[in-house]
Amino acid sequence: MRTYFLSYPILLMAIIEFQPVYQAEKFIFTLCYICFIYNSSMNKIFSKDEIIEFLSDNLKNEKLFETADKIRKENVGNEVHLRGLIEFSNICRCGCKYCGLRSQNKNLERYRILKDEILLSVQNAVNLGYKTVVLQSGEDNFYSADKLCEIISEIKKYDVALTLSIGEKTYDEYRAFKKAGADRYLLRIETTDKTLYKKMHPKMSFENRLACLYNLKTLGYEVGTGCLVGLPEQTVESLADDILFFRDLDADMIGIGPFIPNENTPLAKAQSGDFWLALKVMAITRIMLPTINIPATTAMETLHPDGRRIALQSGANVVMPNVTPQKYRAKYEIYPNKICINDVPEKCRKCIESKIISIGRTVSKDFGNHKR
Ligand code: SAM
Ligand code: SF4
Ligand code: FES
Repeated sequence: MRTYFLSYPILLMAIIEFQPVYQAEKFIFTLCYICFIYNSSMNKIFSKDEIIEFLSDNLKNEKLFETADKIRKENVGNEVHLRGLIEFSNICRCGCKYCGLRSQNKNLERYRILKDEILLSVQNAVNLGYKTVVLQSGEDNFYSADKLCEIISEIKKYDVALTLSIGEKTYDEYRAFKKAGADRYLLRIETTDKTLYKKMHPKMSFENRLACLYNLKTLGYEVGTGCLVGLPEQTVESLADDILFFRDLDADMIGIGPFIPNENTPLAKAQSGDFWLALKVMAITRIMLPTINIPATTAMETLHPDGRRIALQSGANVVMPNVTPQKYRAKYEIYPNKICINDVPEKCRKCIESKIISIGRTVSKDFGNHKR
């Protein structure tokens, strides 16, 4: 809608500018300009029914992916932003039914990476050319707000943007992290279907998740959210609601991941999410939110050997390669067969750059902030 509003005055200006022109070449130029403007305004707001139709029908997939790719190119360009991911603790107090890090999973060896080693990983990420690092963990209360603020301010001595992905915290904690220098925060809503949310997240509250997202926005973070695709009992109607929610929140980043069952969770026997359905949710999100950052997610590549490249050609413009020291990687087992668990940060950095170059794109050298 925003693009339409922007496009019509420009279209009008183009017509007024060239109205009195009779020479053939100027007339042709005018026509080309008008076509260009119309082409640029392919991004639009789909109604819930239209989204449901796209999600239910596979006949329009190619057109959908092509359109998302085109809108990505026009709005955020060909550069791919890399975010170096440090999974610094797999200890979690929560019990999300789908996640291998849930507190009830006794078949997982737990670890914490302490400040000095986190900073070594950050240094390594910076040496490898990352302009953003992401600190991710379970909800681990060992890291008090004070401890985290200390880590954050140390990280900010490097020339990097910092994203946190450490779950639900209080307003005051979010404020302290921001003051210490955190730039962005990732907190997926996971699903906007309240009944399903309740089933998937015992003892957690959908309202609190929402409040956290709005608190982060109020505090001036770049806010990332997103959803899991393929949770048991999830419907295409609720996925459509998820996409509409991303727009209403006016998010800066959206991460879409297919659900992958983990044998050490209550959803061990559940069916896996569908790669192509997750890709469609991502493509529609790009079309409706043209300027945001969208990662080609690790879960996509876990389900499809070329998943991240396909995602980058269907609307995504971000990748989050792992920079966690290799010895911890297998223990951050959210779901099975996660990619890169036997690799080191140097290998992942080279691997991802070659994938990006192979599709005619480049690695960005800037921070990759959301440019509205
Ligand atoms: N604890 C933080 C949180 O929940 O926001 C951050 C870490 S959590 C492991 C990061 C993301 O992993 C979650 O937002 C969730 O969507 C995803 N995840 C967890 N279990 C998954 C599974 N079985 N399949 C795919 N993604 C999963
Ligand atoms: Fe913990 Fe996050 Fe996993 Fe939920 S998704 S169990 S909060 S690590
Ligand atoms: Fe880790 Fe390819 S990104 S090996």
